Amino acid sequence: MADLLCGQVLSFAGDPFDQGEAAARHLAQGAVLVEAGKIVAMGEAAALRAAHPQARVHDYGQALISAGFVDAHVHYPQTAIIASWGKRLIDWLNLYTFPEEMRFADRAYADEIAARYLDLIVARGTTTVCSYATIHPESVDAIFTAAKSRGMRLYAGKTCMDRNAPDGLRDTAKSAYDQSKQLLQKWHGQDRLSYVITPRFSPTSTPEQLAALGALWKENPACLMQTHLSEQTDEIDWVHSLHPQSRDYLDTYETQGLLGEGALYGHAIHLTAREKARLIEAGASLVHCPTSNMFIGSGLFDMDLARHLPVGLATDTGGGSNFSMLHTMAAAYEVAQLRGQSLHPAQLWWLATQGSARALRAQDRIGNIAPGMEADLVVVDLASTPAIEQATRRAETVWQQIFPTIMMGDDRAIRATWVNGTPLHEA
Ligand code: GUN
Ligand code: ZN
Repeated sequence: MADLLCGQVLSFAGDPFDQGEAAARHLAQGAVLVEAGKIVAMGEAAALRAAHPQARVHDYGQALISAGFVDAHVHYPQTAIIASWGKRLIDWLNLYTFPEEMRFADRAYADEIAARYLDLIVARGTTTVCSYATIHPESVDAIFTAAKSRGMRLYAGKTCMDRNAPDGLRDTAKSAYDQSKQLLQKWHGQDRLSYVITPRFSPTSTPEQLAALGALWKENPACLMQTHLSEQTDEIDWVHSLHPQSRDYLDTYETQGLLGEGALYGHAIHLTAREKARLIEAGASLVHCPTSNMFIGSGLFDMDLARHLPVGLATDTGGGSNFSMLHTMAAAYEVAQLRGQSLHPAQLWWLATQGSARALRAQDRIGNIAPGMEADLVVVDLASTPAIEQATRRAETVWQQIFPTIMMGDDRAIRATWVNGTPLHEA
């Protein structure tokens, strides 16, 4: 049976980095018709109600119906260490991250955190993530199993490291290749799951391991490849000393077959002119992680890049300090302000939905509301707290209605989250 969700409806007919707010489509009294996991129609509520009298109606009043949020870079195994105090990147990894990731050798613990993580993000309106797992194949099985049971579209891969990580958290060039290949064959394309080839970053991989994963990617070009790039300046200095033959950080990937369409680079803050030009030429995607970049003290991403190559938005849980994509949009706004760029609410919302979906090369399936797209939706209460409600009272445009929720909204703003045509979370 079909479901008809009624409320304000926000979708995109274009890219607001090219067209500004004209790229957005807003229906004040709209509706979305959903059946068998797909969006069948979107339009005026009255017309859709009349045309589909049998559909089950979900009247969300003045709440805003949007595509579910797409978080393009997370580490689900870092759920329990989110908001750990006082360290910058390399010390933060050694002190908090690696000891926690060690625990994922235990499948039961991996299952517990995978379930906890997905429940936390669905309650915040996120319907797809692209996640790093840990070195342990079991950690990949855990997150895919949890996503599958929830019907979610989810991207993940085994995080490969063969140096500069503690005992128990290192593989080799060969075992990274073999285990990644096995996991890819087991999971890629099953239901809504996609395997992502995942070298953690150049400091924790030898050139041999990067080359092995480059070879695996060449054999499986339909897969995405994710890694980190130019997050902190001392990290970049370390990369130069570990890879003295490379021209720059990107070159450590490029020379091993880890640059091309379908490559996703997290952070990408301190890029050289050559790196920017090569990234654009190669058709790679970047992922902006604004709360993480402030929390770990990394720097300010240049959002002008979004005019030249696909840019996604991400929490970077748990280097990022918040699971919510609303909070992440607010952080992206503030980071841009510090660079003298004012992002329009349409641009922020697009980054958290279609922009991230495009970075994942899934823009035709998720991240927007249109007939034929998958029915992953979030219903957002635009007056979820007294502070937000009073700020919207004089709103004359939909953007003035939405912006206070972007800046001040949290999980209380999430009225419902629909995944694969089913309400997975209802407030
Ligand atoms: N660089 C390499 N690994 C990580 C990680 O887990 N988090 C962040 N923020 N940066 C990284
Ligand atoms: Zn990361």
